[in-house]
Amino acid sequence: MRSAGDLIGISTRKRAEHGFDVERIRRDFPILHQSVFGKPLVYLDNAATTHKPRIVIETVSRFYERDNSNIHRGLHQLSERSTKAYEGARVKVQKFINAAEPREIIFVRGTTEAINLVARTYGRKQVDAGDEVLITEMEHHSNIVPWQMLCEEKNAILRVGPINDRGELLLEEFEKLMGPRTKLVAVVHLSNALGTINPVRRIVEMAHSRGIPVLIDGAQAVAHLTVDVRALGCDFYAFSGHKIYGPTGIGVLYGKAELLEEMPPYQGGGDMISSVTFEKTIYNKLPHKFEAGTPNIADAIGLGAAIGYLTGVGLDAVSAYESELLAHATETIGAIEGIRLIGTARKKASVLSFLIDGIHPHDIGTILDKEGIAIRAGHHCTQPLMKRFGVPATARATVSFYNTREEIDALAAGIRKVKKVFA
Ligand code: ALA
Repeated sequence: MRSAGDLIGISTRKRAEHGFDVERIRRDFPILHQSVFGKPLVYLDNAATTHKPRIVIETVSRFYERDNSNIHRGLHQLSERSTKAYEGARVKVQKFINAAEPREIIFVRGTTEAINLVARTYGRKQVDAGDEVLITEMEHHSNIVPWQMLCEEKNAILRVGPINDRGELLLEEFEKLMGPRTKLVAVVHLSNALGTINPVRRIVEMAHSRGIPVLIDGAQAVAHLTVDVRALGCDFYAFSGHKIYGPTGIGVLYGKAELLEEMPPYQGGGDMISSVTFEKTIYNKLPHKFEAGTPNIADAIGLGAAIGYLTGVGLDAVSAYESELLAHATETIGAIEGIRLIGTARKKASVLSFLIDGIHPHDIGTILDKEGIAIRAGHHCTQPLMKRFGVPATARATVSFYNTREEIDALAAGIRKVKKVFA
């Protein structure tokens, strides 16, 4: 793998400015080097999905060119190579989030499937009529709807922790909602719509002092913050490969082994069994119990490559650089007349959600697109949160470590243009 974090011998203005060689990083991402409507692409929709460094693209393509085979099944060489690479990817994920053992890493399609898995297995087993599941007002639909479905089925109650006008969780209120009937706390680590970083470690402490397990939706967090599931103490942690520079269709559920052991399987089928008769099936051991059928082998291996790449750059360097970018964006764009920022938490990462007086976010997105600038406009799969702020939608720019200050300035110029068009 080329050493993306190797800054030696490079001396550009950008490096001097940030201590981070963004131009070198950008060379690893082929997609960034294109024009859209005749303008250089400015990709600021990283919360929706991130781009893939060449090493990820090459790893997936190499797998299909050389090793493609089913895993855990064949006796032949190709199958052995595929199995080794797939299980190797699991170990990379384990180390990346500092899980205790590889069997605590379950490969799934993404965050959504990870949360549904917990709701359908742990939730169905543990939650009874009158029990409660506690979430927050800033959750993505994928950390609302599976719990709602469970609560409907079980006649249980979904409780929602409130937030303030900055978009910060009201921790005292949240703690008050943890009661004797609370069976699970499910909370987002980094809000996709606001950028708020929740005090998840403190939340885990609060919940655990009452014997309540905690699931963390880490879909946005893993690409921007160092995540150590053992330091956090959480019981479950979910994230998606495609938001961390890996392929789509692959994601991770981390679960503490003792909890996963107690949970019934999610889906039945091949590979999740150790023996089957028509009378009774004995399930396979972890993690295979939760990976029925042929998994997404190539993309799990691609995710391993993405993690290797990101680790090479260094999450600390990424976080520091992205914080600078976000601060620059907040200052520059926040200063434009008529702009209202949605989500001004004291602890934030990556996300700048905003409105322009009298202009619909979709119009902002469409005009920026013509300038080559990709942002997202809409409710960001957080309709209850939009309701909390009294807006149907926002425009949202989300930064990654391959973005530059110049791109933020291009966004600011684009926003001024939007205002002119509507003046
Ligand atoms: N949840 C993704 C986003 O925030 C799709 O854009």
